[in-house]
Amino acid sequence: MIALSLAEIAEITGGELRLAGTDSAETVVDGVVDTDSRVMEPGSIFVAKPGAETDGHRFVGSAIKGGAVLAIVEHPVDDEVTQIVVADVIDALAELAREVVARVRALGRLRIVGITGSNGKTTTKNFLARILQDDGETVAPINSYNNEVGAPVTMLRVTERTRFLVSEFGAAAPGSIARLAGLVEPDISVVLMVGMAHAGGFGGIEETAKAKAELVAAARPDGTAVLNVDDARVAAMRALAESRGMRVVGFGQSSAADIRAHDIEVTAAGTHCVIEARGERYPLHLRVLGAHHITNALAAITAAGVLGVSTADAIARLETVELAERWRMQPMGNDRVRIINDAYNASPDSMAAALRTLAQITGPGERTVAVLGAMSELGESAGEEHDRIGLLAVRLNIQRIVVVGHEARRLYLSAVGEGSWDSEAVHLPDQDAAFEYLRTELRDGDRVLVKSSNSVGLRHLGDRLGELFS
Ligand SMILES: Nc1ncnc2c1ncn2[C@@H]1O[C@H](COP(=O)(O)OP(=O)(O)OP(=O)(O)O)[C@@H](O)[C@H]1O
Ligand SMILES: [Mg+2]
Repeated sequence: MIALSLAEIAEITGGELRLAGTDSAETVVDGVVDTDSRVMEPGSIFVAKPGAETDGHRFVGSAIKGGAVLAIVEHPVDDEVTQIVVADVIDALAELAREVVARVRALGRLRIVGITGSNGKTTTKNFLARILQDDGETVAPINSYNNEVGAPVTMLRVTERTRFLVSEFGAAAPGSIARLAGLVEPDISVVLMVGMAHAGGFGGIEETAKAKAELVAAARPDGTAVLNVDDARVAAMRALAESRGMRVVGFGQSSAADIRAHDIEVTAAGTHCVIEARGERYPLHLRVLGAHHITNALAAITAAGVLGVSTADAIARLETVELAERWRMQPMGNDRVRIINDAYNASPDSMAAALRTLAQITGPGERTVAVLGAMSELGESAGEEHDRIGLLAVRLNIQRIVVVGHEARRLYLSAVGEGSWDSEAVHLPDQDAAFEYLRTELRDGDRVLVKSSNSVGLRHLGDRLGELFS
C-alpha cells in the first residue's frame, strides 16, 4: 500500500485508533493489506474479517507473528498491537481502497481497466496484464480475486509507480459490481459475455445482463466501453455507454466489430486466427486451446489498444502466453494420453466451449473422452442445462462420456437417451471411482477433457490423471 499514517487510515475508515507500543498517530505504514494472516510480512496490515466458519479476530496473534503492525478489527483485541476499530471491516477495506486509488490516480499516470462477463474474466485479465506489463507496472488480481475482499485487496497493491490496474469483477449479486467497480471508476469497462454462469442467483439471464451492465455504468463518463458485439446482450450496452458520453469500441467475429477475428482454426497445439484492426490484418497464434479464448484475446487486444498498445505489439506479447490460468484448458499428460484439465469451474457456456474444443483438437485415430461433473449455481434451469450438455456431448460424437457424481446424473441420462452408436456413457459415484475406471480404460491416442464446477472439484481428478500419464 502507499504510505499512510495511522491517523489517516483511521480517518479514511471511520475507525477508532488504539495505539500500542511506541506507535503514534503519525506513525506511517505501507505494507501488504490482507485478510489472510498467513500472507503477512513485516509491516503488513491485517484485516480481521468475521466469517461464517471462522473469525479473523482469532488470527490477529498469528498475523502479528507474521509481521503485521496494524490490525483493522470490528471489536478490540487484547493482543499488543495497534488497532483501528471499525463498524464493518469490509466497508473499511473498500474505503481504504477507494482513497488509495484516488490518490494515485490524482498523480495522473494510472489507468484502470475493469473486466466482467459470465466466463473468461480471469483469462482476459491475465492476457491483458501480460500485454500491459511491458509498458509499465501492472497490478492485477491473483487468480480469481474478484469479490468484496479480493477486489479491494488487489486495488490496495497500487502504488505511485503503478501504471495499470486490471481488475476482474464477478457479479455475486445485483449491485455488487456497481459497488466494487464504483470504488475505482474504471477508465475502461470490458464486458465479455452474458451467460448462464451463476444465473441461478439472479433469477435469470436478463437480470444477469443488468448486473454486468453495472460495470459500464460505473466507468468514468470520459471512459471507454469495450464490448463483445457477438453477444446481443453485451452489444446492447452500447446505448448505456453512449448515454453516459463514453466511447464504445466493439470486438468480436461479426462485421460490426471494430477489432475483429476471423478464420479461426483450433488445433491441439493452439488456436490461430486473423485479427483485423483499422484496415490491417495480423495473424495471431495463441498457444491457449479453444476458439472461446480468441474472444478473450480480442478483448485484451482491444482494451490494450485503447491504452495505446499497437495491435502488433499486443499480439506478440499474447503469443508468449502458454496457459490462460491454472485449470483453465490446461494441457497435462503426455503425447499418448493427453489430458485437458478445465475443471476450475463450469457453466453451460464453458462446458459447451470445452466440449467443442475437445472434438476439434482430436485427430483421426484418436479417441475423445469427456469426464464431466455437475455445473452448480444454475438454480431452476439446472436440470435442463445438464440435459443439454449430455445431448451436445453425443452430437459432437464424444466417444466416451464419463459422468461423475450424483448431481450430474441428468447429464448422464440425457447422453444415454440420445445414444448415438459410437458414444458410450458411464456414470460413476465419485472421483476415486472415476480415477480407478479411467486408469484401466484410458489408452494411447486418448484426448481427455476433465470439467466440472469448482465445488465438485474434478480439477483434482484431472491433476491425478495428468500425473498418471506424465
Ligand atoms: N468466451 C468464453 N466462452 C465460453 N467459455 C469460456 C469463455 N472464456 C473462458 N471460458 C471458460 O470458462 C471457464 C472459466 O474461465 P475464467 O476463469 O477465465 O472465467 P471467469 O469469468 O474468471 O470465471 P469465474 O467466474 O469462475 O471467476 C474456463 O473453463 C474457460 O475455459
Ligand atoms: Mg475468475
